[in-house]
Amino acid sequence: MKTIIFLFISLTMITSTPLTCSEALTTAECTNIINGIHECIWHENQCQLKTCQNSQIPCDGLVYQGELCSNSQQGCQSVKECSDIDNQESCSTLRPQGVECHWDQQCKVKNCSHNTKSNCKLTNSEKCIYQNEKCSSINQCSDIVEKSRCLVSQIQGLDCIWSNDSCLTNNCKAVLNKEECFKSVRNSEKCFYTQNRNGDNHCLSCSQLAEECKCNEYGIFGCQWQNNSCFEASCNQYTNEISCTHESECVWYKPMNKCVTTQEANQYDRACDIYIYGSILHICTLLILIVLW
Ligand SMILES: *[C@@H]1O[C@H](CO)[C@@H](O)[C@H](O)[C@H]1NC(C)=O
Ligand SMILES: *[C@@H]1O[C@H](CO)[C@@H](O)[C@H](O)[C@H]1NC(C)=O
Ligand SMILES: *[C@@H]1O[C@H](CO)[C@@H](O)[C@H](O)[C@H]1NC(C)=O
Repeated sequence: MKTIIFLFISLTMITSTPLTCSEALTTAECTNIINGIHECIWHENQCQLKTCQNSQIPCDGLVYQGELCSNSQQGCQSVKECSDIDNQESCSTLRPQGVECHWDQQCKVKNCSHNTKSNCKLTNSEKCIYQNEKCSSINQCSDIVEKSRCLVSQIQGLDCIWSNDSCLTNNCKAVLNKEECFKSVRNSEKCFYTQNRNGDNHCLSCSQLAEECKCNEYGIFGCQWQNNSCFEASCNQYTNEISCTHESECVWYKPMNKCVTTQEANQYDRACDIYIYGSILHICTLLILIVLW
């Protein structure tokens, strides 16, 4: 019996408090509804979900029902793209769907050419560089003509270097001489110098070889054709000792039962020595403590 009364009371309480905007019958009830996500507003004699359209200006930057609001001549409006904005101030502050806008008689999607020298940087994911006295959009290192701009390109995600009086992608191709080439590593690939008989040679790495026969030709430098592209084979692709030791640069590392480069093996050994040394120190300290006790 008690449970039934309790249930009855609970039910009346639930039903008498409006939970959604449309259930509220007075202004007071309407503004009191706080059901987490949605705000309500008393508009045209009923309680409605708050939207840009039923809100008052100023409303720049407010978001209702996932829609961005902007001031406009028609009051508050929801905007999806720059061209939905009708005034300069909202155009320069709002970013519909994350897009930066620019006012030039109307509201447009901003691009590099709208930037001045001081704000010539990544604009709506477009890489911009100030050169030839304007802010222009670039896609690759070779689009950059000035050395000083080339050197700061990494700020926008391009890795360029100034070499041979031009701006080049910082890969093996940008290494000009043979000695330097064999000592270089780019994007964790070793560089090597080509061996064309006609003397037209340059510095490359496996991933720059687009043809299978070329790739195989440089097998001595570890290049391997796989999945339609040329890779530098890495030792850890070999899973047994026989195939591993077949490669001159790889050794089978017994403690881990895996194929690694000689360099890696040395590193592991050093780490291991330090560990053993550390353990010995530890044991000695313990012994001394025990003796002193
Ligand atoms: C930049 O936007 C203007 C319009 O404001 C357009 O004329 C121009 O072509 C755009 N430039 C680029 C690189 O997209
Ligand atoms: C250096 O640039 C010149 C002119 O662009 C070009 O002809 C030459 O092949 C380049 N040298 C190297 C080593 O890439
Ligand atoms: C080969 O390329 C495809 C598509 O690029 C990729 O899904 C797959 O994992 C690659 N396989 C190997 C063994 O790299």
